[in-house]
Amino acid sequence: SEEDVVNITYVLRDGTKKEIRGKVGDNVMYLAHRYDIELEGACEASLACSTCHVYVEGDYFNKLPEPKEEEDDMLDQAPALRSNSRLGCQIILNKELNGITVTLPSMTRNFYVDGHVPQPH
Ligand code: FES
Repeated sequence: SEEDVVNITYVLRDGTKKEIRGKVGDNVMYLAHRYDIELEGACEASLACSTCHVYVEGDYFNKLPEPKEEEDDMLDQAPALRSNSRLGCQIILNKELNGITVTLPSMTRNFYVDGHVPQPH
């Protein structure tokens, strides 16, 4: 129903914006897949990769629950880590997140700029 709608904007790697009508309970990584947005999810949300890395824009970052320790560990491995980095598969939409924007990291643009080189483990 309308009450369950949570609007979310994905900023793609080329900078284009894709506005999606999600709903309460949707997982940001799987929702992206449903709309052919090229956010990977190599480990199927089991916190064993960082391919679902996104930046959460503005105040919405603070509206998210704290990351689990496993998420923080995985983010440490993510290229182009920023202070507003989260794993997309750990973001579950709720009403409070209506209007959220998540940005997919652009490897070519950010990788060297941020100087963050992923370490083999
Ligand atoms: Fe692997 Fe999100 S899909 S941690």
